Amino acid sequence: MTFDTTENYVQRATDKIMPLYAIKDAVLERGKNCHVWDTEGREYLDCIAGIAVVSVGHCNERVINAITDQINKLTMCSGSYQTVPKIQCAELLTELCCAEQVFFTNSGAEAVEGALKLARKWAHINRGEDVKEIIAFKNSFHGRTYGAVTCTYKSVKQPEFGPYLPGVHHAEFNSLESVKSFINDKTAAIIVEPIQGEGGILPVEPEFMIGLRELCDEHNIVLISDEIQAGMGRIGTVFAHEAYDIEPDITTIAKGMGGGFPIGAFLAKKKFSEVFKYGDHGTTYGGNPLVTRIAYEVIDQIRQPAFLQNVIDTGNYLMEGLNKLKADTNSIEEVRGKGLMIGVDTVYDINKLLKAMQENGLLATQAGAKSMRLTPPLTMGKAEADEALEKIGHVIKKGVL
Ligand SMILES: Cc1ncc(COP(=O)(O)O)c(C=O)c1O
Repeated sequence: MTFDTTENYVQRATDKIMPLYAIKDAVLERGKNCHVWDTEGREYLDCIAGIAVVSVGHCNERVINAITDQINKLTMCSGSYQTVPKIQCAELLTELCCAEQVFFTNSGAEAVEGALKLARKWAHINRGEDVKEIIAFKNSFHGRTYGAVTCTYKSVKQPEFGPYLPGVHHAEFNSLESVKSFINDKTAAIIVEPIQGEGGILPVEPEFMIGLRELCDEHNIVLISDEIQAGMGRIGTVFAHEAYDIEPDITTIAKGMGGGFPIGAFLAKKKFSEVFKYGDHGTTYGGNPLVTRIAYEVIDQIRQPAFLQNVIDTGNYLMEGLNKLKADTNSIEEVRGKGLMIGVDTVYDINKLLKAMQENGLLATQAGAKSMRLTPPLTMGKAEADEALEKIGHVIKKGVL
């Protein structure tokens, strides 16, 4: 492999790759736990982690060992054949969740898509053929396939991709009154993120989540909790709904469950999953032995009480440090979040702020209109949190022009 300058790599990418991302001027080459390095040898503290994906750290030893072993055994087979990794991963997930059955996908959007199909089929059989409507929320994000993107609030502002799925409404997040105004005899499902990630790290109010559960029970509506970003230990519990003391009917997960390898899933209580019959749904790669073996190793690390306690402690420590910085300067407006899913609103232009952070050795992303989002590996400890606070403090105090 021949090496090039960052500038040339970026130019080559610009020529050949569709321009759907804001391209950063760093070409990432390798990573270890919470740090990554670019092709010119610069080191960064990775507070993106593939956007809440690299849960157990870059190049996690258990993951590497599992890949090496499994890749020498079997990486792929048809979904009609069972494999030990797939069965073990399903058993582990259902042991940890208030659900009895799981379907593995390759991504978050596909998990949402499957969950919507399951909810609609259940409503069709149990409530009537025209019970198809779905309530999602303003500022929501559920993925880019057509069902998922229709539930995603941004679709409202992108008519060029229409027509979208009919019967999807967007209620105000955290407003039960708004939800009630959309509920009618045709409402099949409500889909909610316990913490809106892309929307700007906006946590649900616990009473709202409980209220949604009650409304769904009262009207026989399927409650889907989209935990693709907030789940898998990110907020200090394996499943995000645990933190809100409710049991969804269907839960979607992805991102952190594979630790960096593409896998997603939706889990359902048997009352719902049993309406799915042979031929209703499927996938070529979903649940393959390689990725379910990896996911098992990842989830088995996340589920450990000490691992989850570290997420809570490091998250609290970071939030305290950021709030202290807020008190010491006039540049931070708000710090929000839970566990290691944190949003910071500042007075600075978000693009310039993220560029300055990168130049100072810290990678972060934008969420919502102006929030700096921090979703580091869940293995981040006090030392890395101090490093993050030092780097963020330096940029914030210096100012961004
Ligand atoms: C809450 C939520 N749902 C769904 C998705 C879509 O996941 P994917 O990009 O893997 O399709 C995302 C991705 O950011 C997400 O945050």
